[in-house]
Amino acid sequence: MSELEHLDELMSCRLDVGRKAVMPCSVVIFGASGDLTARKLIPALYHLFLDKQMPASFRIIGFARREKTDESWRAELREALGQFSRTKPVDDDAWGKFAANIHYCRGDMTETAAYEKLRGQLDGFGDPALRNNLLFYLATQPSQFGEVAEQLHQAGLLEKEPKQGWQRIVVEKPFGHDAASALALNNELTRFAHEQQVFRIDHYLGKETVQNILMFRFSNSIFERLWNRESVDHIQITVSEKNSVGGRGGYYEEAGALRDMVQNHLLQVLSLVAMEPPVSLEAEAIRDEKVKLLKSIRTLDAAEVAKNVVRGQYFAGVMDGKPQGGYRQEPKVQPDSNVETYAALKLFIDNWRWSGVPFYLRTGKCLPLSASEVRVQFRPTPHVLFAAACGPKLDPNALTLRLQPNEGIYLRFNGKVPGTAVGVRPVRMHFSYDSEFGAYTPEAYERLLLEAIAGDATLFIRRDEVETAWQIVDSIRAGWNGRPLSNREFYAAGTWGPIAGEELLAQSGHVWRDPQPLK
Ligand code: BG6
Repeated sequence: MSELEHLDELMSCRLDVGRKAVMPCSVVIFGASGDLTARKLIPALYHLFLDKQMPASFRIIGFARREKTDESWRAELREALGQFSRTKPVDDDAWGKFAANIHYCRGDMTETAAYEKLRGQLDGFGDPALRNNLLFYLATQPSQFGEVAEQLHQAGLLEKEPKQGWQRIVVEKPFGHDAASALALNNELTRFAHEQQVFRIDHYLGKETVQNILMFRFSNSIFERLWNRESVDHIQITVSEKNSVGGRGGYYEEAGALRDMVQNHLLQVLSLVAMEPPVSLEAEAIRDEKVKLLKSIRTLDAAEVAKNVVRGQYFAGVMDGKPQGGYRQEPKVQPDSNVETYAALKLFIDNWRWSGVPFYLRTGKCLPLSASEVRVQFRPTPHVLFAAACGPKLDPNALTLRLQPNEGIYLRFNGKVPGTAVGVRPVRMHFSYDSEFGAYTPEAYERLLLEAIAGDATLFIRRDEVETAWQIVDSIRAGWNGRPLSNREFYAAGTWGPIAGEELLAQSGHVWRDPQPLK
């Protein structure tokens, strides 16, 4: 066995230890007619089935109001799969076997009779595991979460202490629109289910590269010892998107970049990058550390918000050589809207490890590239020996975790330019997922659905986590206090954001390092 094969074997053994088994169960999707079911959930479950990761026996029930039969719903899903499956063409034989487990339950979420019908359908499967092990996926408006949970409970399908089997609820974002509404939603849900039965999704946690942040930090001794204020100058987290708000204007007017992206995805990435090592790999141990980290983020008062947080909104520009309209011209957007399509934050983490280290977070729509990166910028060398050859500012070392696309990790350091002159310039060491592991690209939802079926909550957001993240966002919104955007906060579509975003870093002598379109 080669050294590499041996390593492979060792690692896979280790990762299999402690993984929870998947039991036969039924997955019930509420709001099954919605876009998410056809675009993400069914393709994810189908791929789990293809990869032999689904339980030996399972059923999927779509619950929605429209009139459909099992057959017509299956046909609809098959058509969508042609478009949304990550492997093409769809294997019709495999689909046929998978689809035989898919059923439809027509019903109104507010009507008791519909839940009785659902229970009848589950009873009809004639297998106690398919009747009692239940995963309820609430792809509905958050305002319906409480009602669905209550109705399920009344129908005897959701118990805090089930006598047989297990019951879990999976919910989607937006999980509230501020701390008070998130608290109210949590209270609603936990009337009929224990916190341990509630699985709140942040699809970023389903991404391989986001999961790799903990592996990378805590399975390598060379990096973790640099991961602190002694060595790190600052950290930049960028989640940029080329997409415009497009058809989502109605939602976006209510949300904005801070609620849509920062409250969840960016703060999740930040907490994984900055948290302390957990005491074990148990879900609660990891989530305890993430909450601790979120609680150590310095709260900003109005004056600090003005100094440390930048909003932006795109106006008409050019994307990929084509004209792109401004946000205010998007459908369902107010012509004088002040909603932010870009947000940049300078945060401080008041703990022993990170005291004094700025964390810059930014996200935006209509930026030049869709890419997510964490860049750890190390401190410069104390004395620049090579100043004569390369100017007073030798490029500091940096480690970039490229989360998507072209997933990988790069270490930037300085090297001698070959030749007789003393030339120094930055060079890169590059690990690429594709070249190392091949194109293994499961969708985030595959992993998340599998974990929810297995009952492992590590990749889901705990109640106190979501509430703490909202408190951070609420203090920023309070600082904005309805103030209109200034001229320095607008940016042309296709550029890297407003001038105010550049100025935010310039105050401390820093500059944004924009993600590059890497191959
Ligand atoms: C969603 C946001 O949660 O994440 C969208 O609502 C955003 O506005 C999307 O486009 C980004 O996800 P990804 O996986 O494409 O980076």
